[in-house]
Amino acid sequence: MGRIRVLSDQVANQIAAGEVVDRPASVVKELLENALDAGATRIRVEVEAGGRKLIRITDDGCGMNRDDALLAFERHATSKLRSADDLLAIATLGFRGEALPSIASVARVTLETCVEGEGAGTRVEIAGGKILRVEDAALPHGTTLAVSDLFFNTPARRKFLRAESTELAHVTALVTHYALVHPQKHFELLSATHTIVSAPPVTRTAERIYQIFGKDTLAQLLPLAAELPLAHAGLPAPPPWKVDPEEPKRDPGALRVAGFYSKPELQKLNRNSIYIFVNKRLIRDRLLLHAISEAYRNVIPPTSFPVVLLFLEMPPEEVDVNVHPAKTEVRFRQQNVIHDFVRDSLRTALIQARPAAGFLAAQAAPGASASLMPSAASPTPGPPDSEPYHQPQDSEPLTSENVRAEAEAFQLTPRLPEPFPGRLPFTAPAQAGGWNNQQAWGEAAAALFSPASLPPGGDCSDSSVGAGSENPAAETARVEAEQAAANLNHLGSLRPLGQLRESFILATGEDGLWIIDQHVAHERILFEKILRDRQVERVQRQRLLLPMLVELKPAQMVVFARIAEELERNGFEVEPFGPQTLAVKAAPVGLEGTALERMLAEVIEQSSEDSDEVSQNEDLTTLRTRIAASIACHAAIKVNTALDPARMEWLLLELEKTDHPTSCPHGRPIALLYSWKEIQRAFHRI
Ligand SMILES: Nc1ncnc2c1ncn2[C@@H]1O[C@H](COP(=O)(O)OP(=O)(O)OP(=O)(O)O)[C@@H](O)[C@H]1O
Ligand SMILES: [Mg+2]
Repeated sequence: MGRIRVLSDQVANQIAAGEVVDRPASVVKELLENALDAGATRIRVEVEAGGRKLIRITDDGCGMNRDDALLAFERHATSKLRSADDLLAIATLGFRGEALPSIASVARVTLETCVEGEGAGTRVEIAGGKILRVEDAALPHGTTLAVSDLFFNTPARRKFLRAESTELAHVTALVTHYALVHPQKHFELLSATHTIVSAPPVTRTAERIYQIFGKDTLAQLLPLAAELPLAHAGLPAPPPWKVDPEEPKRDPGALRVAGFYSKPELQKLNRNSIYIFVNKRLIRDRLLLHAISEAYRNVIPPTSFPVVLLFLEMPPEEVDVNVHPAKTEVRFRQQNVIHDFVRDSLRTALIQARPAAGFLAAQAAPGASASLMPSAASPTPGPPDSEPYHQPQDSEPLTSENVRAEAEAFQLTPRLPEPFPGRLPFTAPAQAGGWNNQQAWGEAAAALFSPASLPPGGDCSDSSVGAGSENPAAETARVEAEQAAANLNHLGSLRPLGQLRESFILATGEDGLWIIDQHVAHERILFEKILRDRQVERVQRQRLLLPMLVELKPAQMVVFARIAEELERNGFEVEPFGPQTLAVKAAPVGLEGTALERMLAEVIEQSSEDSDEVSQNEDLTTLRTRIAASIACHAAIKVNTALDPARMEWLLLELEKTDHPTSCPHGRPIALLYSWKEIQRAFHRI
């Protein structure tokens, strides 16, 4: 007898479950996606013990009849695909027909479902893949799926679950993200004791951001919207004999991007606050992450990351979603077009918005804003790169300390900030049995998730409770108006009053009081000028009266040889003068003496750290930027330098002309606005 056997469905499902379901959040993801595919407008997620004990998702979608309710648990049973051709243009979140059988093979599942207008609904009970009971039941229309005792029959899997608070954080991140893509739908997330997310329908994404993250986050974000008609459809053209000459030529459609991006002053230490949705699907994608980093190049430091919510829409045939079992990765048919479109849209938006940094936000060091987004968990299920191993402890109580410790453990960001009173008004007055009785947990979670939308007492059955008693539409509009007012488009018309310690320019304008860092302002001006001049090979150089001799170590000589040509194009004229000495005969205008010496040393030092991994092309851009930034930094007006009014005016005028007057090439803010409104508020006039 041969040795090969066909696996039973049961085993096959458990194997599939290994790919699709690795933690409670991935169950929530699959069930949420099913509810959305079923056209639900209201989705309630309940979890107990971080989802290990119970996950229950209730939707008001189309429901299933009795036959479908049973078929849904069969492997490869789906209502979303018919033929292989359908795979080329998937418009639903699910399509594999694998999620329910996989989940049912590793948990106890109860499905209750009813199609609107049909007399009876159906209840199905399954445990470990075995159907235990099927019966008719009087049910409201829609579907409820309760998944309990996840991994009860796969102890190895269960062992890999993290602490309850970690799993809950992942679930929360997931629900939050889907709530963001569907502002018009009602989302709720409840744990055994309290409401974590309550987001009644609103009209716009900005309002949803306000509902979920609060005013402070919204105030840090700027809206983005762009569209690009596609030149051609991504699919290869059909063979000539398949083309019907009568058929009118099909419109290839368009790429659309909408979303929010952070002001340069907000810098995060990891990518966890970048959320990318493609056709309303949350994905991880290196290509788009790269496009986003490119857009922020020289605006924030390369080691920092912005907060970005990106909603990309494209014809379904432009994106292959069938590349990953958990459907969290995609492949674009026109990769370069999409990469460049995202980079350019974001960059243009940044250049046009030129947001002014406020005093309060600028005070927060990078990473101090860790609570701005619920970045505690990776946006998509599965551990983020940085997640260290954490021994699961079933009995671990949910205390303030361990929620905090968890948050620190799986975030790259530094310590969570103390929850500050400014947020508390959003969390509504205390009520018996409600959130506020759970002070310890509440505070930690407040820092973790910024749950601005916690309704009073944890009761969310009333759809009128959302972001406290405030009206999200009106509040959002107010934040947006304040946002729009504070930009750097009128720097040239500011009136300089003088300097603070000969280092900062003080200037007034209609919008308030400005403080401008004279060194970084000049640095930005020079940096952009050098890059522009370099592009057209016109960097201005000046001949030194006497050549400057620079001693280098042998390793530095090697680095110098590698970057010599680029230095020359940036205005240097350098010749070897002995085996370890260089003679600098000419240098870019404005750079001399020790500044010149330091600049050269700095560029050689930084270039010696280049890794071999970066591609040639990227290498050159990095080198160019580095040289420009270094020249600009060393040639710029220093702090502790007196400036006359004409010089200050010139500086402001030139700064206004730059693309990014917001920050220096290293990401530091250039100009801070103490707005008229803030001043009035501080003096208790409003
Ligand atoms: N909440 C729901 N409301 C209505 N129908 C549902 C719901 N959940 C599942 N179904 C039905 O059950 C089928 C099987 O669901 P399942 O999640 O296993 O597969 P899928 O969504 O088709 O594909 P995937 O495995 O990619 O998620 C779905 O195609 C859908 O017809
Ligand atoms: Mg599904």
